[in-house]
Amino acid sequence: MKQAVRRVRSRASGFSRLSRGERLRKLRELVPLGPASVAFLTGDGGLSFDEAERMSENVVSTFGLPLGLGLNFVVNDREYIVPMAVEEPSVVAAACNAARMVRACGGFRAEADPSVMTAQVQLDAVPDPDGARARLEARRAELLEACDRAVPRLVARGFGARDLEVRVLDREEGVVVCDLFVDVGDAMGANLVDTVAEAVAPLVGEILGGEVGLRILSNLPMRRRVRVTCEVDDEVLGGADVARAIARASRFAELDPSRAVTHNKGLLNGVDAAAIATGQDFRGIEAGAHAFAAHGGVYRPLSTFSRTARGLLGRAELPLAVGTVGGSTSAHRGVRAAFEILQVESARELAGVLAAVGLASNLAALRALATEGIQKGHMRLHHKKGAAPGTRLALPALGGEP
Ligand code: MEV
Repeated sequence: MKQAVRRVRSRASGFSRLSRGERLRKLRELVPLGPASVAFLTGDGGLSFDEAERMSENVVSTFGLPLGLGLNFVVNDREYIVPMAVEEPSVVAAACNAARMVRACGGFRAEADPSVMTAQVQLDAVPDPDGARARLEARRAELLEACDRAVPRLVARGFGARDLEVRVLDREEGVVVCDLFVDVGDAMGANLVDTVAEAVAPLVGEILGGEVGLRILSNLPMRRRVRVTCEVDDEVLGGADVARAIARASRFAELDPSRAVTHNKGLLNGVDAAAIATGQDFRGIEAGAHAFAAHGGVYRPLSTFSRTARGLLGRAELPLAVGTVGGSTSAHRGVRAAFEILQVESARELAGVLAAVGLASNLAALRALATEGIQKGHMRLHHKKGAAPGTRLALPALGGEP
């Protein structure tokens, strides 16, 4: 998704009050779009039957979702308009609203690890499992070369196998796993690491002995994490009381797993909506996020908000396997249009933007919960659901003008 010149502005005051035609015209002012994206966006968002048939099985029809725009985003000093596909009222408005507050205080800061995925090779009945690590370490270079031979085009682009680890899962039964770490570049990487795992498994089995079992990626890519922060001043949030209430809400999630899971759902509202619009494997993202949240043995929030001298500091960290090439990034016209709107140049940049949308969604939800309560905004949007198609309401949920 290389863009020679990147020209995006993401601030569009009053966007929600425009007609559909006006919104599309405004979008084209904010970001240059090619004819294919314009055709997709002015159509009914459809996927043809033939396209759907190539993606899945037993296809009888297609299934639509609203595609909205996450406006106002600034991440690492760059402006982003974030396509968001989501059926839940208020998720898009809330993200826009929080992004506007964060933007007023300097924007989000995001940093993503290199795109290192984990592939796993399971072995059972390994003799001397405690010596397994030393046996594999002695052949490390040969193993990593075998991994690289399985994905020559990836290696030619400067990526490929980076490391391996061995863990004994059951000493008595000799159950051992070999984790292989592969930098998949700008791909999500599931197919690449599955290929690597299948290619290298016979050699792992030969070195360790025992019986080779599964050869598959892990959806908990611990070496492919993204971290995002934002700082928002008290007056932008609506006062010190609001900032304090948000910090108290965050503390609740830190102390109680039952609250943490809902807190994380609020963050994933934004991540998933942008992930679906950009054709990512959102089931994998969800699985990894929740596993990471529980990694220390207790389910924890993926983000926290704490008081600073001037306001509030929000931070989030999660594993995020997302790609800008492969998968449905080229197969789906809507996804291609989404990438043209978003204008990211790498998978790592995409991960940073998705994490920022998550933190924005999270912040907006906590702000609403900690002040007026969630139902007030939701009731406004229930009225919208009941309204005639095309009716535009001036009041988005979760706080004010998006
Ligand atoms: C609703 O989709 C998300 C919230 O429940 C998140 C939260 O409670 O923090 C509002």
